[in-house]
Amino acid sequence: MDSNNDASTDLIWLKSIMKQELDLKPPSLARMRGKAIITRDENGSPTGHAALTNRWQGIEINTFVVDPAYRGKGISHQLLSKVDASRAFCYTRNKKLQSALVKAGYRRAFFPGVVSSVNLILSRTGIFLWMLLMFDFKRIIHQIKNLPNYKLYMKTKFD
Ligand SMILES: CC(C)(COP(=O)(O)OP(=O)(O)OC[C@H]1O[C@@H](n2cnc3c(N)ncnc32)[C@H](O)[C@@H]1OP(=O)(O)O)[C@@H](O)C(=O)NCCC(=O)NCCS
Repeated sequence: MDSNNDASTDLIWLKSIMKQELDLKPPSLARMRGKAIITRDENGSPTGHAALTNRWQGIEINTFVVDPAYRGKGISHQLLSKVDASRAFCYTRNKKLQSALVKAGYRRAFFPGVVSSVNLILSRTGIFLWMLLMFDFKRIIHQIKNLPNYKLYMKTKFD
């Protein structure tokens, strides 16, 4: 398989999982461009994915998913061990991911910084408008309902 085929297979796999996971952004916004970490099984098929997005004041870890067939096998630790950034943060309400983040040295934080916040507000507003345009009300309602449960975890080179 050439790398273009690899990328399109990865994207199909990622979209199929994002469709089921309402905490994530809509699958129509899935991209394999940019910085992403992918774990694979012995046949080269993807098992886990994390996107690393530049938020101007650090990297946001997002679209963090493990294939349902591979959950509970420690793949979240593998993904996090590959994050290489001097300032990285992640918003999640998933207890497994929270536990994996703490084990990887991330600490609970309450504010990602002014510059990161501006970037996050702009990007989240864009995603919200896109979901409205796509009539993705199920995802919108799910995310608004769970908004108070998302917690921020952060790791800097000083941690
Ligand atoms: C969250 C997710 C990525 C975790 O991946 P995973 O590979 O199955 O997780 P792991 O097997 O590495 O387990 C992570 C840790 O969670 C812990 N854990 C398991 N169940 C737990 C629970 N109910 N509460 C707290 N911690 C729990 C485990 O102890 C494990 O740590 P250990 O390996 O040191 O024992 C995966 O469940 C997933 O893709 N969920 C759907 C998408 C999602 O919600 N992503 C987060 C978006 S914000």
